[in-house]
Amino acid sequence: MKILVVGSGGREHAIAWKLLQSPKVTQVLCVPGNGGTAKLDRCQNLSFRIDDFAGITRLIETNGVRMVVVGPEMPLAKGIVDHLQEKRIPVFGPVQAGARIESSKSWAKEMMLKAGVPTAKSETFNNSEAAKEYVRAQGAPIVVKADGLASGKGVVVAETVLEAETAIDQLFAQGFNLLVIEEFLTGEELSVLAITDGITITALLPAQDHKRIGDGDTGSNTGGMGAYAPAPIGTPELMARVQKEVLEPMVKAFQEVGIDYQGILYAGLMVYPDGNFGVLEFNCRFGDPETQAILPLLETPLVDVFAACIERKLANIMPLAWYPAVATCVVVSAQGYPNNFTKGQPITSVAAPVNNTIIFQAGTQFNQGQLVTDGGRVLGVTAFASTFAESISLAYQAIDSVHFDGMYFRRDIGQRALK
Ligand code: AMP
Ligand code: GLY
Repeated sequence: MKILVVGSGGREHAIAWKLLQSPKVTQVLCVPGNGGTAKLDRCQNLSFRIDDFAGITRLIETNGVRMVVVGPEMPLAKGIVDHLQEKRIPVFGPVQAGARIESSKSWAKEMMLKAGVPTAKSETFNNSEAAKEYVRAQGAPIVVKADGLASGKGVVVAETVLEAETAIDQLFAQGFNLLVIEEFLTGEELSVLAITDGITITALLPAQDHKRIGDGDTGSNTGGMGAYAPAPIGTPELMARVQKEVLEPMVKAFQEVGIDYQGILYAGLMVYPDGNFGVLEFNCRFGDPETQAILPLLETPLVDVFAACIERKLANIMPLAWYPAVATCVVVSAQGYPNNFTKGQPITSVAAPVNNTIIFQAGTQFNQGQLVTDGGRVLGVTAFASTFAESISLAYQAIDSVHFDGMYFRRDIGQRALK
């Protein structure tokens, strides 16, 4: 079977790599892919824009592609799945109306209320005066969220009222029409990526991301600087509650509003010190870098999981099987990320140097035969082992063999798992 993967990040490298482990997958085409997918056996990159739906459709039809997997939120929010479904092309991912769960924070809040999903108290505003008045009444810390895709730049956790007011002005000035202002929650974050065919929903292994750029969770928010799975904080008891209080009610709520939601539903949770939790956000796709830590542990062939979802037969392959191991992924970024960073730095040696490690590539490409940096997050160095101590140590050992000028990584990825 030929499969097309849309996207160019570490997540897509991990998806392509995992799909290719199944003998029934004869080839993976990546649009546009990256330096990592370019070198995978039986994998080929094709340079199309990820929102060139007509071009992608022609490519699928002329190459005999039998399944499409969409990585990033942008094409989902623009309706790539609706477009391909109309052409009767099997595709994994939610339709445009479903992808709003990520692209519209205010609608996501409405859906959470409808489904009775625990979440932070919030209000939605379309003008800055009312928004600021609300902030002054509530006090700080408080969280200001833009309604719309913002690549992680639309959320401001304001420590003071002034900071919140400034964020309100800035986000409206940037062209966002709606802001959600939300109660500040404290606790430990947990990423629960669930897979659904619109009827049945099941969580993948719980993972923990590291959103901040600096060690000890300091500095700017990023797309994610590292991840590990299964996160010990996602205990069987907690996961059972998430299933009953978040995942199943959301599937029912989608059905009730007439949305056939198939694909990944990613719940970003805050687990409070008392063990209860609230949903911070939903994403309509696999998390990056969580996917790089989760997928290597999946024993059930990924192609079968996607096929079961597309055919609305997920129940038939449940429960999913997992290897009894843990994984840690350390992101190596370009100097300056998440702000300005340079591209085009030559990268030396990305062959996995130590056993049980794999270097997923993210912002990389080949330039005249030389692998160079091509994005903020450059590599996701991942290691598997029977304990977190070992997988963390292996991942950092593997990083020692990689080099590009200005490479940066956090040194404390996975530390919470050791507690
Ligand atoms: P989001 O895109 O909604 O996940 O927000 C990005 C990050 O902002 C989250 O991963 C949290 O670290 C932080 N955040 C979002 N909402 C809240 C909240 N209500 N309280 C505290 N932190 C939050
Ligand atoms: N790692 C967070 C995300 O994918 O949104």
